[in-house]
Amino acid sequence: MNPEEFRAHAHEMVDWMADYLEQIERLPVKPDVVPGSVFKQIPVAPPDKGEPFDAVFRDFREIVLPGMTHWQHPSFFAYFPANTSPPSVLAEMLTATLGAQCMSWATSPAATELEERMMEWLRTMIGLPATFTGVIQDTASTATLCALLTARERRSSFRINQRGFVPEMRFTVYCSAEAHSSIEKAVKIAGLGKEYLRKIPVDNDYAMIPSVLEETVTRDLRLGYTPLCVIAAVGTTGSTALDPLRPLASLCRKHGIWLHVDAAFAGSALILPEFRWIAEGVEEADSFVFNPHKWMLTNFDCSAYFVRDVEALVRTFEILPEYLRTPEGNRVNNYRDWGIQLGRRFRALKLWFVIRTYGLHGLQQILRNHIAMTHQVAERIRSTPGFQILAPVPLNVICFRYAPSGITDAALLDALNARLLESLNRTGMMYISHTRLSDRYTLRLVVGQTNVQQHHVDAAWERIVATSREL
Ligand SMILES: Cc1ncc(COP(=O)(O)O)c(C=O)c1O
Repeated sequence: MNPEEFRAHAHEMVDWMADYLEQIERLPVKPDVVPGSVFKQIPVAPPDKGEPFDAVFRDFREIVLPGMTHWQHPSFFAYFPANTSPPSVLAEMLTATLGAQCMSWATSPAATELEERMMEWLRTMIGLPATFTGVIQDTASTATLCALLTARERRSSFRINQRGFVPEMRFTVYCSAEAHSSIEKAVKIAGLGKEYLRKIPVDNDYAMIPSVLEETVTRDLRLGYTPLCVIAAVGTTGSTALDPLRPLASLCRKHGIWLHVDAAFAGSALILPEFRWIAEGVEEADSFVFNPHKWMLTNFDCSAYFVRDVEALVRTFEILPEYLRTPEGNRVNNYRDWGIQLGRRFRALKLWFVIRTYGLHGLQQILRNHIAMTHQVAERIRSTPGFQILAPVPLNVICFRYAPSGITDAALLDALNARLLESLNRTGMMYISHTRLSDRYTLRLVVGQTNVQQHHVDAAWERIVATSREL
């Protein structure tokens, strides 16, 4: 493709992108496809000769698009959003065009220095003290793994990196029974063994019970284990439950345990001063992660990881083969040493574009609006006979179920709600997902799309009520 052809196709593609975003509501949120239907439309073998770009783009529209779930649809109320925005998309176009590999300062000085400044901006925006230093990771899963590995190395005086595991150190890790699966995965990858992950019971609001954590840590100490890390959730995936950081932090301090805070989704709410209470005590943590790629209008992937002991982080990951040596040495940040992979995308650019385009106030306005719409619909759910809210609604996630009077059998209620979810999602007009809370099948509705408006939320709720009556 020569530069002129590139220019022509790029214009065509931008037009398509603008049309897509403008008309997204006409598409079904969730595609109506069966497993394997896309796969079998793709030729078994790659083409020997290059094809015209028009043919490639046509197949994108005809084969790929009908098989996509439209995450940017304003009636996407499922999981947690991965919301994006026009400035973020434009930044991603530039990132792809630059095609830079930002592993070291020298391989892209501007990418490194913009990342440094963006992490300072984000730190200020969410009210974290300057004792934390930030770095962008691809995902919260990776950030949590980095936290565990750093905790492991610091606690073992960097011996495990050096000599492998030593039998006399048997580490234990703690999170709540409602914590995200990425924690168990990180425990497995870090070689700590999932048998040594203690899932602490939660209270009626699905938050970790600090007294049970304390009992468990005490018991583990008595048995000769080394409690390594507590991972607290600020906003669990199931119901945005909030583990109480203050008591967890004081327990961690007492026993030299690393405290990592997983605020993957809810952390964005900290840009709202009136919601800082959700992470009260966070300044005492050792590390903290949240995902601008979930609820801060920044394309997936972009995860903000903050750590207090940068030296321990870098010592855990640094490695310096000859071919990576640069004259600046460690007078600059070489982000390849701040995480797992060597190669890094230029992710700071989209944050810069998003924050500058909306401004802090603009972003705050959008999040406040999401939360206000959520509380309004929660009120409607509460006052509609036959529906129950199953967890507190601190932010923009509502956990609820349909429980018409007269049906008390647990299995029947579960099946009824699973059918309701299935019927709603089959319409293509909205998309919600589910979880289990207190062993009850629970519907989850999340109001976090960039362009979601009151009428989308109202329509979703009216559809839920109408569909429930038809079951
Ligand atoms: C609380 C929590 N932690 C971690 C994750 C994992 O996020 P990522 O996809 O960025 O690894 C999620 C994903 O939804 C989450 O809800």
